[in-house]
Amino acid sequence: MITPMDLIVKPTQRCNFSCTFCSSTEIAKSNSKVDDLDLAQVYIFLKRFPETKNIIVNGGDPLLMAPSYYEKLIEFLDEKEMPTKIHLCTNLWDYYLNPEKWRPLFSHSRVTIGTSFQLGGGRTIKPGEILTKDLFKMILSKFERDFSYVPSFIAVVSEENEDLSMETIELAKELGVECKLNRAMSSGREGKPYSIGKIYNTYIDIYEAGLSQYEFNTKEMLELLKGRGSICPSNRSCDEGIRNLQPKSDSGYEYSSCGSFGDDQRYGIDFELEMEGSLITPLQNEVELKYQKEECISCPNYFICNGCFKTVLDHKEAGIVEESCKEMKYFRERATGLGLT
Ligand SMILES: C[S@@+](CC[C@H](N)C(=O)[O-])C[C@H]1O[C@@H](n2cnc3c(N)ncnc32)[C@H](O)[C@@H]1O
Ligand code: SF4
Ligand code: SF4
Repeated sequence: MITPMDLIVKPTQRCNFSCTFCSSTEIAKSNSKVDDLDLAQVYIFLKRFPETKNIIVNGGDPLLMAPSYYEKLIEFLDEKEMPTKIHLCTNLWDYYLNPEKWRPLFSHSRVTIGTSFQLGGGRTIKPGEILTKDLFKMILSKFERDFSYVPSFIAVVSEENEDLSMETIELAKELGVECKLNRAMSSGREGKPYSIGKIYNTYIDIYEAGLSQYEFNTKEMLELLKGRGSICPSNRSCDEGIRNLQPKSDSGYEYSSCGSFGDDQRYGIDFELEMEGSLITPLQNEVELKYQKEECISCPNYFICNGCFKTVLDHKEAGIVEESCKEMKYFRERATGLGLT
């Protein structure tokens, strides 16, 4: 059986924003277009994995590339008769300034658009100039007038804006979209990871407030609490079904099974080697990524605390394993009290 495959493409690490928490732009080699990802690499990947279902484009910001970059990609997919969809995750700023430039691409049947926004001081157009809620709403109004839907958005939670999480979900409700409240990873400009224990208590707050339908991870949490505990804890294989391709760094790093480890330039995969044949799985056998601590193996929270290899490593390296564990045990008590387990 062929495993379904998705591909994250970071065409550029250039960006027109300067978010203080940004996981990726810190590693940009330069502001030069010369350092962008050559589409030839994407074509090689797609020939090796024609079963690729989705191409998720982020960066940097995808709209710093010309629309022709994506048009050429679509031509390739059309020629090969591949059903692959393209999802752009973008700050939409260049669309807001130049809507006519992006209308044809954004209307294409293969293309969907998502965006990002969060309250607090971190999402900055340039240093000191925050993307405000009102400005974000103006961008989305323009988008809705053009395309008759409002894109969903990702909001990153760190200690800087943690008090604003519920207000963020209220905003999603007001806009009539689902948002995704993601914890801050420790990569790029963000020095400290936000603990998984804290974010799961926020998901419980969202559930208790009756707002689950507006937040993706809260719904995932409800699913996890219902059934995943019976699966063998060591059977995690997220590094088989997704790949990340980004501009080659000076050290030669360009390819991985995880977008976040790509930001860190760790656990890379040899691109040429995988293109020749066998599937390489760089994460599932790494001892340091298996769990935060031994006690986890027999804990009902195993999948939540250790479901993501990057989360495991972030918590260990930042020394927040115990702090997060305490929050996570409180989360379990609350979930049980609410009859969710
Ligand atoms: C790196 S950005 C690239 C796409 C685009 N520029 C944007 O902001 O939507 C991709 C996503 O990662 C999120 N992100 C940025 N820094 C992060 C961090 N330290 N931890 C978790 N997510 C982060 C952004 O908010 C965005 O939703
Ligand atoms: S989070 Fe996105 S918009 Fe903000 S600096 Fe990073 S790449 Fe740019
Ligand atoms: S709650 Fe603590 S022991 Fe349980 S899985 Fe999480 S970190 Fe490990």
